[in-house]
Amino acid sequence: MTKRRVGLLFGGCSGEHEVSIASARAIAQAFSTSPNETDYTLLSFYIQKNGQWCDGAIAQQVLSSGQPLLSNHQPGASSTRWLLPPTVADVDVWFPILHGPNGEDGTVQGLLQLMQVPFVGSGILGSAIGMDKLAMKMVFAQAGLPQVNYRAVSRAQVQLASINPKLCDELEAALAYPCFVKPANLGSSVGISKVRTRAQLEAALDSAASYDRRLIVEAGVAARELECAVLGNDQPAASVVGEITYQSDFYDYETKYTEGKAAWIIPADLPESIATQIQAMAVQAFSAIDAAGIARVDFFYVEATGDIFINEINTMPGFTATSMYPQLWAASGITFPALVDRLVQLAFDRHA
Ligand SMILES: Nc1ncnc2c1ncn2[C@@H]1O[C@H](COP(=O)(O)OP(=O)(O)O)[C@@H](O)[C@H]1O
Ligand SMILES: [Mg+2]
Repeated sequence: MTKRRVGLLFGGCSGEHEVSIASARAIAQAFSTSPNETDYTLLSFYIQKNGQWCDGAIAQQVLSSGQPLLSNHQPGASSTRWLLPPTVADVDVWFPILHGPNGEDGTVQGLLQLMQVPFVGSGILGSAIGMDKLAMKMVFAQAGLPQVNYRAVSRAQVQLASINPKLCDELEAALAYPCFVKPANLGSSVGISKVRTRAQLEAALDSAASYDRRLIVEAGVAARELECAVLGNDQPAASVVGEITYQSDFYDYETKYTEGKAAWIIPADLPESIATQIQAMAVQAFSAIDAAGIARVDFFYVEATGDIFINEINTMPGFTATSMYPQLWAASGITFPALVDRLVQLAFDRHA
């Protein structure tokens, strides 16, 4: 059998550029272990923070150093800025490991679909719905998945001072404190605030509106945070359920990305009926947004009442050696190298 050439696509124009590089390093490592090594040849493609694609030695250098390029590499004249490297034509299957906007949201998926080459993960629709917290919540509601109360808010509403007091009155009446203010389209907790007073609410709305036109305000729950990994296409499977624990006020950016600030418990210590419900809801959410291949679905579990609320789906979850997604599968019997092989197979299946 001829080796298949996997195009590993990483970096990207999002706040999660560095996380993407870390995920790509772990995946590259998994392709260099047996038997993947004999089945696949890896071609690396690095998307710089300015959007320019680099292949070959430069992509390889970022992958081996783990560090983004400090200054943008300009391979050609500025008029060729958006040309893709010709080596994209050598790729048999893409593995886009890009997190956040311009990578996890359907943009890159649209490009890869136009190339008519199979790619790992969700297509345009699933990626776009999974990225936008408002669209996601509407689809989940339609699917009958339980969620916390929330309100959609626009940047225009926040900016119009005459509307603002009325808006805050309505949010307070509908959701009470504490509540969470979020930009609809980011990730990694960027722009998210937990607020307990009117002054904090106003500041949080301004802050979130600086990131996005679409905002969401949610009733806060005091709950355990559980995550479930999904793998498959039309008959997706759910992993064991994991739990995230931390000391901070909520799972914010610093807690997510500072070594030692958060811990994973895999599998989570839960009544079996709760774990089973979460697995079923994870698969339901996956299908509801038309996800494919891979996703991680996150939940709030209120132990006192037994309530489970779906929080979000991530169609390209963190994929470093210590990330929740591969660890959940490792605990469910699929090793990291077997997982990347399975994801590539699923990409070919879906394309066929
Ligand atoms: N409604 C809520 N109730 C309680 N905690 C919340 C709520 N919404 C968000 N959080 C906290 O904020 C974190 C980040 O929110 P999330 O919606 O998952 O954003 P992101 O997509 O950036 O991960 C969650 O993991 C949780 O700790
Ligand atoms: Mg989250």
